[in-house]
Amino acid sequence: MQTIRRSEELALALAELGRRGSLALVPTMGALHAGHMALIEEAERRADRVVATIFVNPMQFGVTEDLDRYPRKEAEDTRMLEEAGCDLLWLPSVSDIYPDGFATRISVSNLSERWEGEARPGHFDGVATVVAKLLLSVEPDVALFGEKDFQQLAVIRRMVADLNISVEIVGVPTVRESDGLALSSRNAYLSTEERKRAAALPTALNEARQAIRNGARIPIAIQQAKQKLVDAGFLKIDYLALVDAGTLHPLEERQENARLIAAAVIGSTRLIDNILA
Ligand code: PAJ
Repeated sequence: MQTIRRSEELALALAELGRRGSLALVPTMGALHAGHMALIEEAERRADRVVATIFVNPMQFGVTEDLDRYPRKEAEDTRMLEEAGCDLLWLPSVSDIYPDGFATRISVSNLSERWEGEARPGHFDGVATVVAKLLLSVEPDVALFGEKDFQQLAVIRRMVADLNISVEIVGVPTVRESDGLALSSRNAYLSTEERKRAAALPTALNEARQAIRNGARIPIAIQQAKQKLVDAGFLKIDYLALVDAGTLHPLEERQENARLIAAAVIGSTRLIDNILA
């Protein structure tokens, strides 16, 4: 695996890879775990060459968020990508992505405003802007993102369609721990006790799905799932809702393309999750 940092090195590295067939891009912020590695494996199935990026994107962190304490594990990440058979790792610096005078912001309206967007204003503008920049820099045939960040995936799909960016966006199913908790770099912030209780998040979503499938009224199923989180010690529930998987609009009735989505805080850690309804 070749590792490059400066964007000036990118064109040459890509030219060498590109001659050998189709290209996949897996953008990440590093601190890689089995969830990220599932994206790399799927990328390998879908393209001849795989490019990964690690960039902790300041534009998508709010002023009160965890940019400074976000885990950085470059050596370990490099080793994991190398072992997985990734071909090229690009580790741009902040000034590579946002050089002096950078003034463009991509904002995907409607989709970005609700749910995560409400709790994290400006977050998806930061995501859309950096992902557009990475896609236009690398020009992959396919780019892979986790369903774990379901709204992010929807925002990226919308942006790529709206801007005619010529790439196939692939969503990869969420990788979970044995108790159901979705793998996330932020799980590292949980104490042992919080970690045990955190599994209530996927359990509550699964129970809500089952209740809805058994004919329970949506508001009742959702209220029960929220109560489950409160009982497990979640201090704040930002949202727990049944939504249309494309528009993310809340649903009153179950439909084909529906998703249960949730965000809640345990201790000082905010967790998100979602499942097919
Ligand atoms: P990051 O949180 O590092 O995640 C990188 C990719 O891994 C995202 O597409 C995310 O959805 C996926 N992922 C994370 N946990 C996963 C899990 N348990 N199972 C499957 N996939 C998982 O998401 C970002 O970085 C950034 O917003 C980024 C897209 C890189 C833009 O900066």
